[in-house]
Amino acid sequence: MSDNRQSGTTNSSKRRSMRPGGGHGSMNLDKADNFNISMKRLFKYFGRDKAFLIIGLLTILASVVLNTIAPGILGAAITNHLERSLDINAFAGQMVILLFIYIGAFVTNVVSSVTISFMSNRVIMRMRTEGFNHIQRLSISYFDKKGIGDIISRMTNDIDMVYQFMSNGFINTVNAFFTITGIIIAMFNLNLPLTLAVLATLPVVGLMIAVIGRQVRKAAKEKQSQIGNLSAAIEESVTGMKVIQSFHREKSEQEKFDSVNRSARDASIEMAVRSYMMMPLMQLVNVFGLVFVVGLGGVLVVANPEVYSIGLLTAFIVYARKFFEPLRQVAQVYNMFNSAMAGAERIFEVFDSTEELPSPETPVKLQELPGRVEFDDVSFGYEENKPVISGIDFMAEPGQVTAIVGPTGAGKTTMINLLARFYDVNSGSIKIDGTDLREYSRTDIRELMGIVLQEPFFFATTIRENLMYGRPEATEDEMIKAAKIANAHHFISCLPDGYDTKLTERGMNISQGERQLLAITRTVLSDPKILVLDEA
Ligand SMILES: Nc1ncnc2c1ncn2[C@@H]1O[C@H](COP(=O)(O)OP(=O)(O)OP(=O)(O)O)[C@@H](O)[C@H]1O
Ligand SMILES: [Mg+2]
Repeated sequence: MSDNRQSGTTNSSKRRSMRPGGGHGSMNLDKADNFNISMKRLFKYFGRDKAFLIIGLLTILASVVLNTIAPGILGAAITNHLERSLDINAFAGQMVILLFIYIGAFVTNVVSSVTISFMSNRVIMRMRTEGFNHIQRLSISYFDKKGIGDIISRMTNDIDMVYQFMSNGFINTVNAFFTITGIIIAMFNLNLPLTLAVLATLPVVGLMIAVIGRQVRKAAKEKQSQIGNLSAAIEESVTGMKVIQSFHREKSEQEKFDSVNRSARDASIEMAVRSYMMMPLMQLVNVFGLVFVVGLGGVLVVANPEVYSIGLLTAFIVYARKFFEPLRQVAQVYNMFNSAMAGAERIFEVFDSTEELPSPETPVKLQELPGRVEFDDVSFGYEENKPVISGIDFMAEPGQVTAIVGPTGAGKTTMINLLARFYDVNSGSIKIDGTDLREYSRTDIRELMGIVLQEPFFFATTIRENLMYGRPEATEDEMIKAAKIANAHHFISCLPDGYDTKLTERGMNISQGERQLLAITRTVLSDPKILVLDEA
């Protein structure tokens, strides 16, 4: 566990040194820069799976080549062995070869699909793992600021955008690229001037893809951010359903949701319109290209009928039309790619959030300590210039019970938050046995301290597993002993399944008082040196 964290920290600090200022720095960077960096970073996740990418691309290539040469072989076999000479054995031989070519094309096609989906799923899983690790290390103040729904949306929807591109994009791109190359070679073999006439449309298409692509990327980012808002809104209203229903606010919640929903719809339409714009425009360019080829071809046919036959012109008209299909595919993949890049940027924003509290380079070891807690002139506010507590001084001696009493909102929970180092003080210091909290490792502090939160949280699993959460290796006897100390044993024993009773999400199927007792048991069982109870 601690190994994991350490390696994770080095990873992220490496990234930070690459990009000064972390997440907020990205705002200052040039858009194109940002884009290039995202590309490079995305590619890093391929790791050793780059080999799969290469195998995948080579097999697609093989499959396209085999599929392309097959009709040629068929044509030649018919001409040579059926039309010119009737050599049925040679013809059968050619058919066997053809069969093998088609089998080869099929096999390479399957191999490429399997390899690419193998690779993209592995890459995506690695991104999810890093995301989850990073989120686990973020400080609580990060979650105060960002909506939970937004984080979930980035981890699911945005990562899925990247996946969609990886699993479909590569294959389509390679396919389109080789089809275009094949057509160009075939055209060059026929006639140079007419080939150049067809290719004249390429710069226009390139320019269009660049300009529209930029707009699509922007629209995709907006759309994905709106989807984040949508999931945040759903998350909030589902969590607060009891409050909504008890105040009969369903209608106003519906209206609030409608507005978020409308924004999401508009952003999605905007994105769709921008990406669909590509198709008609491409078609237009294609028609112009066709007109150009026919026009030029017509002039050439009249001027030099020896070389420029109607047949040749017809072939070029067919090629010019065929050229369009893979270009359309490229444009489509490019839209997909832009959504993926927008998603990647949003995921990297989470990865780059440096809201975690700094850890000391060489933490002071927490050994067998008496456990004296001291607040020395501590001031703190959740937001700047809004102090919640200021100038707090007190000493909690080991072996004693220290009570902090104050009206609601006075800052009692806040002091516990500071003691557990969920937040850092603004000034002054909190000391354990004379050493500032910030000089210990966070893991050590949390191991030393057992905190019963004012609003305890439980996982949707058995009571036993919830109780053992802080000390999975505890024995049954130890668990029961802790439950007896916390006065929880009696009510647990009265449940039909006792300690094996399953709690529902957040433990909503037992009473608040019972949840409180379970929370105390859980903390007592973890056997902390310093026990902190918030209104328990
Ligand atoms: N996450 C937060 N972000 C911003 N302000 C907060 C946050 N948590 C608490 N506050 C503010 O800090 C002040 C102190 O809150 P705190 O929870 O420490 O009070 P408390 O003494 O524990 O009250 P209670 O007895 O009701 O539990 C309150 O005014 C509250 O509005
Ligand atoms: Mg409180």
